[in-house]
Amino acid sequence: MSVIRTAVTGIGGYLPEQVLTNADFTRMVDTSDEWIVERTGIKQRHKAAEGQVTSDLAVEAAKVALAASGRDISDIDLIIVATTTPDMTFPSTASIVQAKMGAKGAAFDVQAVCSGFVYALSVADGFVARGLSKAALVIGAEVMSRIIDYTDRGTCILFGDGAGAVVLEPVEGQGTSADRGILSFDLQCDGTKTDLLYVDGGVFENNNHIGKIRMVGNQIFRHAVQKIAQATEAAIEKAGITHDDVDWFVPHQANQRILDGVADKLGLDRAKVVSTVANHANTSAASIPLAWYEATKDGRIKTGDLVLIEALGGGLTWAAAAIRV
Ligand code: UT7
Repeated sequence: MSVIRTAVTGIGGYLPEQVLTNADFTRMVDTSDEWIVERTGIKQRHKAAEGQVTSDLAVEAAKVALAASGRDISDIDLIIVATTTPDMTFPSTASIVQAKMGAKGAAFDVQAVCSGFVYALSVADGFVARGLSKAALVIGAEVMSRIIDYTDRGTCILFGDGAGAVVLEPVEGQGTSADRGILSFDLQCDGTKTDLLYVDGGVFENNNHIGKIRMVGNQIFRHAVQKIAQATEAAIEKAGITHDDVDWFVPHQANQRILDGVADKLGLDRAKVVSTVANHANTSAASIPLAWYEATKDGRIKTGDLVLIEALGGGLTWAAAAIRV
């Protein structure tokens, strides 16, 4: 049976120039390089320059993805930006990216915090596989540094800025797991747990205060390993594949201990796990496409490989997907 699949035909990433090392944080809060490396695996993170906003990072990542796909911006008819740090309350960051890149067609944001890229990919899959888009850009982009409380040692060391992007196009498949393209999704949310991870500002506040990240880290940690493993198992089952079919596991980059814990729970070889958390830290919706881009650029992920992605973030939202590149 012939089916239309959504294929990833190009991938790109962008990291701002400035780097903050763990040593930089020892001058701000009571912490140490040893504690941060042992508890999170993070060694450094990138920080956007003053005046550099999410749409700027998104455009840079999108240009790299477009070049990799061999497409021109005039081919793009849909832009979805996954972000939790939009340039403005409205319009969407995707609208601003569209204007900056000179694109046409539909453009909007998806907000599912760290799970945003997987959620956005699922929305774009709906457009592409139903013939509503011939070429889409899905971008995860964040300036987390703008919502960090640099006096809170439990959160400030964890996050970084960056952007990753993919170009999606329709391809014909046979409806089997050998097809190129997106094979499955599992998307979940438990809205009763918003108090575990949130930003304490926004429109409700009436004080022009965008707020800062608040997190009960150890509880998020416990939920992360369990829920990510469940979603990933579901994505594997829905794709009709086995654990052995997975060539690369590209998780959301929150904490090396979470990456290892999930890989072990799933029985996946740790050598198949793509990890950029040491150098990028947690870039929220940007972390999966950035890690995917790195592993594509260095030749690990190749055409035909089966890639498994997953994330958990504020909401709580969590999600996973299986994709043949
Ligand atoms: O992407 C969204 C999802 N987010 C995540 O997945 C993050 C999940 N959570 C985590 O990664 C971990 O919970 C953290 C890295 C945030 C914290 O690690 P933990 O092993 O869960 O530590 P904890 O929160 O239980 O705190 C243990 C101790 C506390 O001190 P006391 O109360 O035992 O004296 C903290 O105050 O570690 C202290 N601590 C720190 N010490 C040095 C917390 N942050 C720091 C720090 N440096 N930066």
